[in-house]
Amino acid sequence: MLLNDRFLKACFGEVVDQTPLWLMRQAGRYLPEYNATRAKAGSFLGLAKNPAYATEVTLQPLDRYPLDAAILFSDILTVPDAMGLGLQFATGEGPSFQHPLRTEDDVNKLRTADMNQLHYVFDAVSEIRKGLIQDGRQRVPLIGFSGSPWTLACYMIDGSGSDDFRHAKTMMFARPDLLERILEINIQSVAAYLTEQVKAGAQALMIFDTWGGLLPNGWYQRMSLAAMQKVISQLPRKHEGRKIPIIVFTKGGGIWLKDMAQIGADVLALDWTISLSRARKELLEINKPLALQGNLDPLVLFSGTKQITDQVNNLFDDLAGAPALGPNRHSLDGHIFNLGHGISQFTPPDSVSVLASAVIEKSRVLRASR
Ligand code: CP3
Repeated sequence: MLLNDRFLKACFGEVVDQTPLWLMRQAGRYLPEYNATRAKAGSFLGLAKNPAYATEVTLQPLDRYPLDAAILFSDILTVPDAMGLGLQFATGEGPSFQHPLRTEDDVNKLRTADMNQLHYVFDAVSEIRKGLIQDGRQRVPLIGFSGSPWTLACYMIDGSGSDDFRHAKTMMFARPDLLERILEINIQSVAAYLTEQVKAGAQALMIFDTWGGLLPNGWYQRMSLAAMQKVISQLPRKHEGRKIPIIVFTKGGGIWLKDMAQIGADVLALDWTISLSRARKELLEINKPLALQGNLDPLVLFSGTKQITDQVNNLFDDLAGAPALGPNRHSLDGHIFNLGHGISQFTPPDSVSVLASAVIEKSRVLRASR
């Protein structure tokens, strides 16, 4: 039994009393309690690979803020790690791989991720589900996730984070056949990985296509979108009698919403470069009443209480002026509040309390005045 099912309802455009809220990277370094657990674990990977610690940090933001969903604490790069690429996190330097894919020979040797090496993730999912129970009921639903095949390929080929993913894009333009072979392996790996997360207890799935927006028009559809569609076509859409919503986030994808609406997702997540009202109108134009997630600029959280509240109010006023998803729906239904990208590690934790209060208050007031 779910105590709070606003998030799941909003994913399917159903009526809710207030707009559900969660934040990308809600468990992270801006929280002192996260840093304390990370210190106990010794490192980021020590944290992510230990189900008890992963559960502890997943629950931390829920104890501080009135959030409507939990997200599995892990990382998208666990999947290429389980392909044998050797994931490392050097302190202060971000992730890197010991064995990036640079040559045809590297690609020939690549194999689908071994799900046995990802047991710590599935164990974390079931442990988090148990940790979410309070007085016999589950506080909020749990979101599982994966990187998109293209976004994973960016890290697998370049070997670390990058401004332009020069090696990945060079392979794409010079040897698209090689990139497509990597993508095929990533598609099978991501589909298996997300399916196992659902079996372990994930109640919604999000695909992070963080670097889809680096691609030229045409290449995005061919290399990122088509691969996500193939993943989604293999995913379970129902588990234990409940529908599993699928959220797709392409950072910089606002210009491609009408294409993104075709791949079988239930929710499209937006960064801050497109307004929610414009996104809603574009989707209704093509008769795709999908829910939207987003899209406040995370840097707004560095301004003051009044500015944060004003920006939240503007976001909701904009959406309130757009058409509703259907009859007997408020314009605000079918929206999940989130940031347009992950919360910054330098965010003052009190700003998130201000944000949450503003979301709750404004989204209730607007719904009351329908
Ligand atoms: O949202 C959540 O709270 C769940 C946890 C989560 C993490 N990474 C934890 C993390 C999720 C959903 C991710 C996804 C992820 N990881 C993405 C896609 C989403 C996005 O932000 O675009 C990407 C591209 C990665 C790869 C990755 N992991 C990078 C580039 C970095 C270093 C950058 C940074 O912020 O330091 C990470 C590390 C990482 N993953 C941290 C966390 C909390 C910080 C590591 C630490 O504690 O030292």
